[in-house]
Amino acid sequence: MAIYFIFVSMKILIENIKTIVGAEPQPKDKLAGKQMSVLPCIDGGWISIADGLITGVGTMKEGTPAKAGFDKVINAENRFVFPSWCDSHTHIVYAGSREGEFVDRIRGLSYEEIARRGGGILNSAERLNKTSEDELFDSAMRRLNEIIGFGTGAVEIKSGYGLSVEGELKMLRVIKKLKEHSPLTIKANFLGAHAMPTQYKQNRQEYIDLIINEMLPIIAKEKLADYCDVFCDRGFYTVEETDAILQAGAKYGLQPKIHANELDYSGGIQVGVKNNALSVDHLEFTGDAEIDCLMRSGTMPTLLPSTAFFLGLHYPPARKMIDAGLPIALATDYNPGSSPSGKMSFILSLACVKMKMLPEEAINAATVNSAYAMGVGKTHGTITVGKTASLFITKEIPSYSYLPYSYGSDLIETTIVAGEVQ
Ligand code: NIG
Ligand code: FE
Repeated sequence: MAIYFIFVSMKILIENIKTIVGAEPQPKDKLAGKQMSVLPCIDGGWISIADGLITGVGTMKEGTPAKAGFDKVINAENRFVFPSWCDSHTHIVYAGSREGEFVDRIRGLSYEEIARRGGGILNSAERLNKTSEDELFDSAMRRLNEIIGFGTGAVEIKSGYGLSVEGELKMLRVIKKLKEHSPLTIKANFLGAHAMPTQYKQNRQEYIDLIINEMLPIIAKEKLADYCDVFCDRGFYTVEETDAILQAGAKYGLQPKIHANELDYSGGIQVGVKNNALSVDHLEFTGDAEIDCLMRSGTMPTLLPSTAFFLGLHYPPARKMIDAGLPIALATDYNPGSSPSGKMSFILSLACVKMKMLPEEAINAATVNSAYAMGVGKTHGTITVGKTASLFITKEIPSYSYLPYSYGSDLIETTIVAGEVQ
């Protein structure tokens, strides 16, 4: 006799919520300048969830829906509900770790010196090419489960540790499999131009031709990527090389989301904007010309303060950028070299402490704006009826500012991803 399983998604009611953070019936696609300091909240609220979506949001005063209609009722007294973090910049698929380089830096070597000696990204590429697809999948899945516990509901994952046709395709196939098996919303970003493989250092164009003529056509045919990335910076890819790769990617329908201005005023921001990048990321080196360029674009400036923290770089001028009227998104850059952590709440603490962002600005940057930066704003980033039910419930806390303030504590009690309690 055949047994059929019918998947029925849970109907959940969260009631008595002290404050619903980011409750926005008509969300904007992004928040810029002064808008970033406005965080819409509902005090004393409830949220209903069915079929993976938020189906209702209201106040306790007006009354809750009848409890009989729900499979699970969660009492969130003295607790806050936040929309899940959107981590719009990660390198979560990788092999091995790089704490040896961490110690080398403590002893005085710089990130760039380590890279020039064949360490850094090339070190990770060597290991990745020796690691099977299954092993990569398993370790990445463990990291995804870890970040679910940190409150993340959507994540962008880059390739870029393959740096060969087989290696890049392997990474992207792992990401495709992660999309199929993880409850998280995942976007894939093709970063074949992450570093120059040693064997092409004397003939850079040969590797760039490989990206353009061999990798991109297969990636497009197999629908392996949503975006195209280049590390446009001193010692990595030039503006001209970046331009050529981004234009080639666009021919296959891949919008750019790039690394820019981490190590110098590289021209990366300008070439990203010129190519209609969805986001330009890092931006430690951002001056008036870059701010001006971003002001006239739809490109989301995305800051990764844990990289500045971990490598001892100076922080991007977030305050100046917001005061000039720009939007800002925040992400972890989770990778084995420059940011071996996917903890978004720590990113918020760094944003507040080191970049003088207000808690409201940091929360908006890690939700609405980071959802925009990875192209999931229609479904994520706010508590809105009709959006994906990806959110977290905190432990008992006095205010939303307590979250970035209490930077070492684990303050999340329950996470719900796509309507399911994790
Ligand atoms: O975003 N800046 C370039 N790429 C990564 C670092 C990757 C690595 O060191 O493995 C980043 O910081
Ligand atoms: Fe990165």
